[in-house]
Amino acid sequence: MPDQAPQSLFSVDEALALSRREIIALHTKYVNPTLVSMFKLLDFDKKFVRAEGVFVYDEDGRRYIDFLAGYGSLNVGHNNPVVLEAIAKVSDRPNLLQAALGALPAALAHNLAQLAPGALQHTFFCNSGTEAVEGGLKLARLVTGRYKIVSATGAFHGKSLGSLSVSGREKYKKHFLPLLDGCSNVLFGDTATLETALAAGDVAAFIVEPIQGEAGVIIPPVGYLKAAAALCRKYGTLFIADEIQTGLGRTGNLFACEYEGVIPDIMLLSKSLGGGLMPIGAIMTTTAHWKTAYGTFDRALLHTSTFGGNARACAAGLASVNYIVDHDLTKQAKEKGTYLLEKLSALRADHPMIKEVRGRGLLIGLEFTEPFHGYLDKITNGALNKLYHEYFASLVASQLVNKYGIITAFTLNNPNVLRFEPPLTIEYAELDYLVSALDDICGQNKSPARTVVRAGQTIAKRMTTRHKKEPRTVK
Ligand SMILES: Cc1ncc(COP(=O)(O)O)c(C=O)c1O
Repeated sequence: MPDQAPQSLFSVDEALALSRREIIALHTKYVNPTLVSMFKLLDFDKKFVRAEGVFVYDEDGRRYIDFLAGYGSLNVGHNNPVVLEAIAKVSDRPNLLQAALGALPAALAHNLAQLAPGALQHTFFCNSGTEAVEGGLKLARLVTGRYKIVSATGAFHGKSLGSLSVSGREKYKKHFLPLLDGCSNVLFGDTATLETALAAGDVAAFIVEPIQGEAGVIIPPVGYLKAAAALCRKYGTLFIADEIQTGLGRTGNLFACEYEGVIPDIMLLSKSLGGGLMPIGAIMTTTAHWKTAYGTFDRALLHTSTFGGNARACAAGLASVNYIVDHDLTKQAKEKGTYLLEKLSALRADHPMIKEVRGRGLLIGLEFTEPFHGYLDKITNGALNKLYHEYFASLVASQLVNKYGIITAFTLNNPNVLRFEPPLTIEYAELDYLVSALDDICGQNKSPARTVVRAGQTIAKRMTTRHKKEPRTVK
C-alpha cells in the first residue's frame, strides 16, 4: 500500500471548538458550498452556541428569538428540560433492539391513540416527515388495492421521491422526472376538481395538509376539509391528513383537521413529535385499515425501519406530547396566534408592501406585495417581479436576524412569504418585538426598487470583502 498521511479526525470536543470561519470552510469543502454562499449573502452564517426555549445565542453572546423554530419542530422550545430529562432516563436502555417489543413505542402509540381524532389506533414509527408520507402512501395503496394518489396544488409533503410526487412546486420536482406514476394535483380548497379527480373510483388516497405551511400558510375555505373527507368516503379513497407541520398544538387545536371535525383514515406526524431533540415520525391509522394492509404473517414486515421506534426518540415523543398537553400549549398557540395576527394585520394597514397576513394559531405567514407594475414589469419581461418574488422575503429575513436578532425564513413553496412559527411557549413581549421590528423594516423599505438595488449592492460588497477573508485550508 502506498504511504498515506496519517488521518486527522475531529473529536466532538474539537468540533465544538471550531471557529465560525473554520465551520464555513469545512462546509464549503465537505458539505454544500452553494448553501454556504447563500447563507453568506444573507449573513446567515453565524455560529450559534446555545439554545434555550425560544432563544438561541451566538458565539458573541448575542441573543436571538427563534421564529422559525425548526420549521415548526420546536413547539416545546429548544432543549426543553422535560424532554432532555426523558431522553436521559433511557440512556442505559437498549436504544435499538428490533428483536424485542419496546416499552416506549408501545406507550407512545397508546398516548397518540388517546389524543388523535376518531379511531386512529395503530401507529408505525419512522424517523422524519417525508418517511411518514411514504409510509402513508404505501398504506393507502395496500388498503385500497389502487395506486393513484391525488394531492393539492401548492402542497409540501417532503423531498423523497414519493413525497415529491405528491408535492406542489415544480421547481423541486422537474429535475427528478419521472416521479411516481398516477399522482395528480387538484386545486387546494376546491371540492369540484377534487370530485372530478376521484369520480372514477380508482384513487387510493387524497393527501392534504389541513393548513398548507410551505405554500405560504394557506388556510382552505371553511367546510373544505369536511367536504373533501366526505368525497373520499363516497369514492372509496382514503383521506390522509398530513399534520407534520400543523399537528401537536401549532394551529390552536391539537390537530388542525379537528377544526372541521374531520377524522382522517391516515394521519401523519413528525417535527414537534420529537420535542426538537430527536428525529421521529408517525403514521397513524385505524385497526381496520391496519389489518387490511399488514394484518397477516406474510405482510407484517412489508414496511419496516431500522431506527423507527427507537427508545430515545420515543422517550422524547412521550415527553414532548405530554408537555404540550400538560401545559395546554394548544390554547396558548390559539391565544398568542390571535394576538400576533391582529398586530400584524394592523401593520398591514400602514405598509402597502405587506400584501396579506394570514394564519391560525402560531402558524402565520406574511406575504409581500409584488411591486413592479406596468412599465417596469413589462420592459423587464416580469424579471424584476420574479427576482423580488424569489428573494425579497429573504432580504427581510436577513435584516430581521442581523439588525433585530429575530430568526425566520421564507416558506419553501412560496419564497415571497415570511413565516412566523415560534415555540408555543413564546411570551407576548417577544411577539410585540417582532411586530415593531417589522414596522421598522417596512418603514425603511418604502421604495421596493431602491431596496432591491441596495440589496444588490450590499450583496456584491459582501461577496468581495468576505472572499478575501476566507481561510484557505482547514484540517
Ligand atoms: C406538511 C409537511 N409534510 C412533510 C414534510 C417533510 O418533513 P421532513 O422535512 O421531516 O422530511 C414537511 C416539512 O416541512 C411538511 O411541512
